Amino acid sequence: MEQYVIKGGTPLRGEVEISGAKNAALGILAGAIMTDETVTIENLPNVKDINVLIGAIEDIGATVNRIDAHTVEITGKTINRLSVDYEYIKKIRASYYLMGALLGKYKNAEVALPGGCAIGSRPIDLHVKGLKALGADVDVSYGLWSAKADRLVGSHIYLDKVSVGATINIMLAAVLADGKTTIENAAKEPHVVDVASFLNSMGANIRGAGTDVIRISGVSALHGTNYAVIPDQIEAGTYMCAAAATHGNVVIKNVIPKHLEAISAKLIEAGCLIEEYDDAVRVIGEGRKLTNTHVTTLPYPGFPTDMQPEITAVLAIAEGTSTVTESIFENRFKYVDELARMGASIKVESTVAIVTGVSNYTGARVSAPDLRAGAALIIAGLSADGITVIDDIQYIQRGYEDLPTKLSGLGAQFEMVDNERDLQKFKLKVS
Ligand code: EPZ
Repeated sequence: MEQYVIKGGTPLRGEVEISGAKNAALGILAGAIMTDETVTIENLPNVKDINVLIGAIEDIGATVNRIDAHTVEITGKTINRLSVDYEYIKKIRASYYLMGALLGKYKNAEVALPGGCAIGSRPIDLHVKGLKALGADVDVSYGLWSAKADRLVGSHIYLDKVSVGATINIMLAAVLADGKTTIENAAKEPHVVDVASFLNSMGANIRGAGTDVIRISGVSALHGTNYAVIPDQIEAGTYMCAAAATHGNVVIKNVIPKHLEAISAKLIEAGCLIEEYDDAVRVIGEGRKLTNTHVTTLPYPGFPTDMQPEITAVLAIAEGTSTVTESIFENRFKYVDELARMGASIKVESTVAIVTGVSNYTGARVSAPDLRAGAALIIAGLSADGITVIDDIQYIQRGYEDLPTKLSGLGAQFEMVDNERDLQKFKLKVS
């Protein structure tokens, strides 16, 4: 069983390079099958979720040529199945982007239904509403989600709730629909904009991505392209929080500072100094006291729900009482009990965590309940007194590329071990 093991207490120092954005790459990979020409995607993060989706794309018959760990060539011409198995959906919900992509291209698709997951119930009603509005016959039954149309026709779609997934899925289908589609109350997240830019580089006509209203003029076909994925906002934010919690001094490179503004603002309120460069940010926590602040998660440009556990891990060791309000997913405080085992004092009342700062964490054996919750445990472990062992790291590996190398490069005593002997060896080495 693989585990992360951390000897905490070393301030992180140095530079770390951020990988491509997982959540942008998932939409882009799905979109890549929408032409028969070859699409090259660069700056893919080498993480499990991406590899699962690439597997799903191969499984429907597309030709995937892995150029290197961060680059693939995809040719959709060889697709021979319009059905995506539960095997993929259960590992990664975003395989459902193949619904929008296949429906757009072939006007027919069948995808296993995603269930809920650790962070919430996660319905797909808005995806269904959008695809129906484009003229598809959508059926949700027997654990499957299928959609068919003679032709897709542009439409006016209002999303009742801001949804990244629904915005991307509808956009994928609508680029090859006849006529104009308008998505109102669209998600504005950087990854939505990146998927739109990618589709435009394939010949789609999408305007307004990054605003509340996305306008798509359907085109008859898409062509091949060569596209590099944007840097990962959440990976960058995670290293920012790790630098803050360890009172370190870290330059986070290959980022788009604009995408990090909400995170920077909260870290500044918590007492850190942030320097912004063209494609990097420096977080300085060294010699500075962490103090309380209040955070509410909101769709972009608000504070990202995917950073909620990580900022809570920082505020749990900040002086005073902070509040963290989760407004997107109903079940995203599961890690709080694990942080409590490391000495944090956090009380959750419905959607609000009331965080009473303690002076420090103490290392413990903990278990990652989901991806970003796992990142919070790493942040706590890096700043804790003593050794932290994290179980269930498969969740963390879904979205963070090569943590051992990146964190060791910043001076952390952090390793992945997969047996008791290596765990004991690490403990001896750091004691
Ligand atoms: C995306 O999930 C991300 N995943 C999530 O990142 C992220 O937490 C989330 O957006 C919010 O930013 C990917 O991009 C692959 P939503 P998604 O649809 O698209 C409700 C991570 O850690 N809703 O924006 O599934 C929903 O329940 C992951 O990397 C409906 O009600 O999220 C939620 O309350 C975890 N009906 C809200 O909308 C629907 O049909 C926003 O969800 C769809 C969503």
